[in-house]
Amino acid sequence: MTELIRTELDADGVLVATIDMADRTMNVFSAGLMDALDALMDRVDRDPAVKSCVVTSGKPSFLAGADLVMVRGYCDAATTASHAQMFEMCGRLGRQFVRLEASAKPWVAAVNGLALGGGLELALACRTRIASDDPRLQLGVPEVRWGLLPGAGGTQRLPRVVGVETALNMIVGGEPVKSELLFAQPGQKLFDRLIDGDLVEGAAAFAVEKADEHAKGGPLPLVRHLKATHPNPDAYFQFARNTVKAMAKHFPAPVRCVDCVEQSVKAVGIEDGLTFERDTFLALMGTAESKALRHAFFGERAASKIADVPDDTPQRTIAKVAVIGAGTMGGGIAMNFLNAGLPVTILEMKPDALERGVATIRKNYEAQVRKGKLKPDKLDGRMALLKTTLAYDDIKDADLVIEAVFEEMGVKETVFRTLDGVMKPGAILASNTSTLDLNKIAAFTGRPQDVVGMHFFSPANVMKLLEVVRGEKTAKDVLATVMAIARKIRKTAVVSGVCDGFIGNRMIEQYSRQATFLLEEGCTPAQVDRAIEKFGFAMGPFRMGDLAGNDIGWAIRKRRYVEKPHLRYSKTADLLCEMGRFGQKSGAGWYDYASGRRDAIPSAVVVKMIEDHRKALGITPRKIGDDEIVHRLVYALVNEGARLLDEGIASKASDIDMVYLTGYGFPLWRGGPMCYADRQGLYNVVQAMRKFAANPLDDAAFWQPAPLLAKLAAEGKSFT
Ligand SMILES: NC(=O)c1ccc[n+]([C@@H]2O[C@H](COP(=O)([O-])OP(=O)(O)OC[C@H]3O[C@@H](n4cnc5c(N)ncnc54)[C@H](O)[C@@H]3O)[C@@H](O)[C@H]2O)c1
Repeated sequence: MTELIRTELDADGVLVATIDMADRTMNVFSAGLMDALDALMDRVDRDPAVKSCVVTSGKPSFLAGADLVMVRGYCDAATTASHAQMFEMCGRLGRQFVRLEASAKPWVAAVNGLALGGGLELALACRTRIASDDPRLQLGVPEVRWGLLPGAGGTQRLPRVVGVETALNMIVGGEPVKSELLFAQPGQKLFDRLIDGDLVEGAAAFAVEKADEHAKGGPLPLVRHLKATHPNPDAYFQFARNTVKAMAKHFPAPVRCVDCVEQSVKAVGIEDGLTFERDTFLALMGTAESKALRHAFFGERAASKIADVPDDTPQRTIAKVAVIGAGTMGGGIAMNFLNAGLPVTILEMKPDALERGVATIRKNYEAQVRKGKLKPDKLDGRMALLKTTLAYDDIKDADLVIEAVFEEMGVKETVFRTLDGVMKPGAILASNTSTLDLNKIAAFTGRPQDVVGMHFFSPANVMKLLEVVRGEKTAKDVLATVMAIARKIRKTAVVSGVCDGFIGNRMIEQYSRQATFLLEEGCTPAQVDRAIEKFGFAMGPFRMGDLAGNDIGWAIRKRRYVEKPHLRYSKTADLLCEMGRFGQKSGAGWYDYASGRRDAIPSAVVVKMIEDHRKALGITPRKIGDDEIVHRLVYALVNEGARLLDEGIASKASDIDMVYLTGYGFPLWRGGPMCYADRQGLYNVVQAMRKFAANPLDDAAFWQPAPLLAKLAAEGKSFT
């Protein structure tokens, strides 16, 4: 037997097989474990001394499903491999479980902890299952999160033991469920027994019982022999299909999960259902949506790794946090740490600013309580962790201080010089600046190695993205600590080098430039927004400008006109600001807004302003199709993304995608701008850019392909 499964045969003929993969924190179905399972089944079938087999785990969890790296390999092959090859690779686990069911000896799954995907499917193929009587034990089938479904019998066997509706909710939702909820189901057949004491001992005794019963001619139960039923299947499955279609419009997998579970009820026999499940699984593997979800999954993991900061880099302890500035960002930033149970002290210049800031935090928590998202006692607990002060002396012991004061270098300088004077040695000094040079900020202190950017996005307590800005002198242990704290506050952290706008805003500036060129050539703001929102962006560039405040972009452009006079900008956005139309905050922007409302109403005044501007430039408007709008906006992102990679500001294309998926509302099912460009083919992207460059009303310099993009396109390669 291989070392992945330890076996021990007891005096009663019970073979206890303990899965324990030495190099993993959790057991997963790798090719090696599948080999080991084959060998175990051979032994159980052939060795007359073995009367029954108990399968359990040597880890705190039972089995966490398939090895994701292996599945990724299979999925990537799905685009090139034949159906037969894919069937051979991906169907193996399902075939193993069918073989397990056919064993003439009782197999008992002793589920000691978390069982996910293939782990749960293994238990369902055993003749009986017992579990630790532990309310924290969780079970789940998370494959839908990858745009897939449980493909080793889960959609056929799970409904037979927990009921059709519970099974479908688990399969479509993908979230693990506490086992106590499943135990409480009337008539559940998932577990034959719950064991309070030693699980393996209990399982062995149960296995002896089953083997004895069988020896006396008793039947060996199998999940496949149970029936999955529903009192009104046609109406139920139609309802389920409509619901998941509405909830997951762009993803095919949830609807296909419904189709498969329907087969558990309607197929003539389980074999037909299993075949249907396997074919559906194979078809889903090749979909663009599944590929995008896998890309995002691995992109998130990859973003947390920094090439020259090894996993074992020592970290600094973060037990106390301070935030400077209780404005829009400071309050939201503080909430992240309060939510994670860390005490926070907010420092302000004036008492009224502090009061306003704290009142906003409380209001946000109260809104969560009203919506049932937070228990009232948790609100009190979180507010109790919050302190306020006007004196730096009160924050000198903080391990991490995050500055979120006005975006002016002079103000930042005062704050960082003061922090340098008062903070304890080793404290991490972070800035939330969006545009200022972090290296300059670090140079205001005598400890630039302790200075780092933590660029949160608004609203900071909601948005997933955190750009971690690595200064020239930022120490590795500071980076390692900040990446770890980002995980603790549940952010997706992406490292960016120092440049104007970092990754996200530097790219969005090019996208916004293109959006205004489109206005000059013939579009209205609503037309541009509609096209890109149809593509899947949460919000088009003009609605976004109105939300963020058009004056922010105006200030940046004024700076650019001086710093980079050769860059072409459309004047349309400046004209808008000259009209005082700063967006929602001034009640008017690219759109009109009814008092107290956020609905964007197309504005005749703005359309006229754009038309007048066109006339002044002597431009005859033309009709521009959605495809052109989308490609000009998205390829503007892609080209700037390629420049960021060239310059080493972003270290991986997937980091750029994570920034756009988690911070800028890029459609998840398209995987991010770089993944999207790869799917289009970089050669085609460059060809489209050449066409845009030839448009005299566009900007030929803008569309000069970044060196990396040109190189990859010429070599027939991709970013990711
Ligand atoms: N608003 C956003 O969407 C956003 C997003 C990302 C980053 N940022 C950055 O976050 C920072 C803060 O932005 P904001 O939108 O929260 O601004 P804000 O104007 O809402 O808040 C700034 C707060 O800082 C306080 N303050 C100013 N000088 C101070 C000092 N010397 N000591 C203590 N407190 C001081 C002010 O009283 C105010 O309450 C800026 O650097 C900004 O670029 C903002």
